[in-house]
Amino acid sequence: MRLEGNVALVTGAGSGIGRAIAEAYAREGARLAICDLDEAAARTTASAIEEAGGEAVAIAMDVTDEAAVNAGVDETANRFGRIDTMVSNAGIQIVHPIEDFPYDEFRKVVDIHLGGAFLLTRACVRHMYPRRSGSLIYMGSVHSHEPSPLKSAYVAAKHGMLGLCRVMAREGGRHGVRSNIICPGFVKTPLVERQIPEQARDLGISQEEVVEKVMLGRTVDGEFTTLEDVADIAVFLASFRSSALTGQSIIPSHGWYMG
Ligand SMILES: NC(=O)c1ccc[n+]([C@@H]2O[C@H](COP(=O)([O-])OP(=O)(O)OC[C@H]3O[C@@H](n4cnc5c(N)ncnc54)[C@H](O)[C@@H]3O)[C@@H](O)[C@H]2O)c1
Repeated sequence: MRLEGNVALVTGAGSGIGRAIAEAYAREGARLAICDLDEAAARTTASAIEEAGGEAVAIAMDVTDEAAVNAGVDETANRFGRIDTMVSNAGIQIVHPIEDFPYDEFRKVVDIHLGGAFLLTRACVRHMYPRRSGSLIYMGSVHSHEPSPLKSAYVAAKHGMLGLCRVMAREGGRHGVRSNIICPGFVKTPLVERQIPEQARDLGISQEEVVEKVMLGRTVDGEFTTLEDVADIAVFLASFRSSALTGQSIIPSHGWYMG
C-alpha cells in the first residue's frame, strides 16, 4: 500500500473527483478527512470508506468560510495526529457570456476555487511546516492553461490556482512541503453533466455537439478523462518520495492540452 500511515484531507470529497480520490487514498492505506459543504454527502463517502475497511471522518466545511476551514483542518490534525496530504478540490461551475455574468456569481466561483485553496493551504501548512513534510495537491483544470468562452470566472480562478501552486512550491520547499496541481480535461461528474444543457443553450448548438465539439473536440481520441485517471495521479503525487516533483502541473486530458 503506497499511502500507509498517510493522513489526507480532501475537500469536495462528497462527490465526483474528490470522492474518487478519497476512496483511492483509502485503498492505499491513508486515513481520510472527507470535507464537503454537503455534510450528508461527506458522511456517505466516509461511510463507504469505513465499510470497505478504511478509516475516515466526515467534516462539514464551506471552503470559503475561514473559521470553518481552520476548524476542519485542526480537527483532522487532532484526530489523526498529523496532515500529510491536502487535496484542494471543492469546486463549482457557472457559465455565462461575460456581458451577462452577474458579479456575485463571478465572485462565488473565484471564492470557492481560489479563495478556498488559499484558506486551506494556509491552515494545512501550519501543521505541515513543523514536521517538515507534506504534499499540497490542487485540483486545477485544462482551464488552468487554456481559455474557453463563457467561463471567465472559472478560467480566471483555475489560472490563479496554478499560480498559487507554484508559489507554494517555492515557499513550501524550504519547509519540506511539495506543491503540485492536477489539470484534468472533462470528466463525467455532476459538475460536467450540468454544463451540457447550459452550454447548448448559450452556444445555440445541440447537447451532442457540446460533448463532441466543445468538450472532446480537441482530444486525440474523443474520450472523456475518467475518475480513475485523476485518482491515479493523485495517489502518485501523494506517494512521491522527494521534492524532485514540485511546482508541476499534470494534465490528464487525452491530449486536449499538451503543456
Ligand atoms: N469534472 C470535470 O470535468 C473537471 C475537470 C477539471 C477540473 N475539475 C475540478 O474538479 C473539482 C471537483 O469537481 P467535480 O467534477 O468532481 O464536481 P462535483 O460537483 O461532482 O463535486 C464537487 C464537490 O464540491 C463540493 N463543494 C462545492 N462548493 C463547496 C464549498 N464552498 N465548500 C466545500 N465543498 C464544496 C460539492 O458539494 C461537491 O461535493 C472542481 O474543482 C472542478 O473544477 C473538474
